[in-house]
Amino acid sequence: MKLIAVATTGGDAPGMNAALRAIVKAAIPRGLRVIGFERGYAGLLANDFVFLDDVLVDGLMHLGGTYLKSSRAEAMKTEDGISRAVDVLEGNGVDGFIVIGGNGSFRAACEIQEASGIPIIGVPASIDNDIAGTETTIGFDTAVNTALEAIDKIRDTATSHERVFVVEVMGRNRGFIALEVGLAAGAEVILVPEVEYDIEEVCERLKGISRRGKRSGVVVMAEGAGDCMRVKGALEERTGFEVRLARLGHIQRGGRPTARSRLLACEMGAASVKFLLEGRKRDMTAVQAGRIVPVDLKYASTVEKPFDRRLYDLAMALSS
Ligand code: F6P
Repeated sequence: MKLIAVATTGGDAPGMNAALRAIVKAAIPRGLRVIGFERGYAGLLANDFVFLDDVLVDGLMHLGGTYLKSSRAEAMKTEDGISRAVDVLEGNGVDGFIVIGGNGSFRAACEIQEASGIPIIGVPASIDNDIAGTETTIGFDTAVNTALEAIDKIRDTATSHERVFVVEVMGRNRGFIALEVGLAAGAEVILVPEVEYDIEEVCERLKGISRRGKRSGVVVMAEGAGDCMRVKGALEERTGFEVRLARLGHIQRGGRPTARSRLLACEMGAASVKFLLEGRKRDMTAVQAGRIVPVDLKYASTVEKPFDRRLYDLAMALSS
C-alpha cells in the first residue's frame, strides 16, 4: 500500500477535521502518501484532490466543518456514479480509500469497494449518531452539547415568561440527539420518530405538569418526529400554555468539536489507517464497549441502529 485517499462526505460533523489530521499523521510515518478528494463524492467524481501532509493538517484539530469540504452527491446513487468513482480511484492508483461520513456515504463506499476491490474503511462521522455497529459517531457529542447549551438558555426565558417551548433538534430519521439532549436538559416531553405519540397524551402530560404547579416546560422534538409547527399549534390550542417554537437547525452541525468528539476522531482516524495496513477490505472503525473495533461496513450501512427505549423511559420518568 503506497497511496491512500480520504474524503469527508454527506452532512458535515464537528471532528471531521480532527479525524483527517489523525489519518494523515498516522499514514505519513508509515511511508504512505495521502490525497484528499474535495467536496466529498462530488470532488471524487470530478477528480479534484489535494495532496495532504502532516504540516498542512496541523491546526485542524479544533476546527468545526471540514477542511476538505463536503456535499451530498446524488450521482452516487446511480451505477454511472459508482463506475466513475471507481475509474477515478483506479486512475490515480489509489490503494486504499478512507471515507469519513455517515451511512448514506457508506452505502456508496460499499458499492465502490465491490466494483473495484479497492479496500475501503469508513470512519463514522454524523451528528445524528444513527450508524449501526458503533455506540457513537464523531460529532454527536458536540451536537448534543450545542443543543443543550441552547435549550438551557431557552429554559431560562421559558421559566421567566411561564411558557412552553417546542424545541426542534436535528435528526431527520432518528431521535438520538433528541433523546440525549432531552434527558440532559430535563425536557418535560421528548418526541422522536422511534416512539409513536398521541398529541392528546402530550397535551395531557403538560396539563398534568401544570396542575402540579409547574408553569413552564420544554418539549424537545426531533426533526423526524413530525411537523413542529403543528405540534406547537396543538399544544397552544389544548393546554392553555403560551407556546413558542425554536428550531435549532444547522448550529448543531457547526462549532468547535468537544474533547469527546476530538478524542474519538483521533482514535478512529488512526485506526482506519491501521485497518488498511492490516489488509482489511471493507470495515468501519466502531466503538464497542469503549474500544475501537472493526465492523463490516455493509452491516453498518444497511442495518437500523436500535433505539435505547430504556433511556427514553428514564427521561420521561425523571421529568414528569
Ligand atoms: O447530517 C445529518 C443531518 O444533520 C440531519 O440531522 C438533518 O436532517 C440533515 O442532515 C440536514 O441536511 P442538509 O444540511 O443537507 O439540509
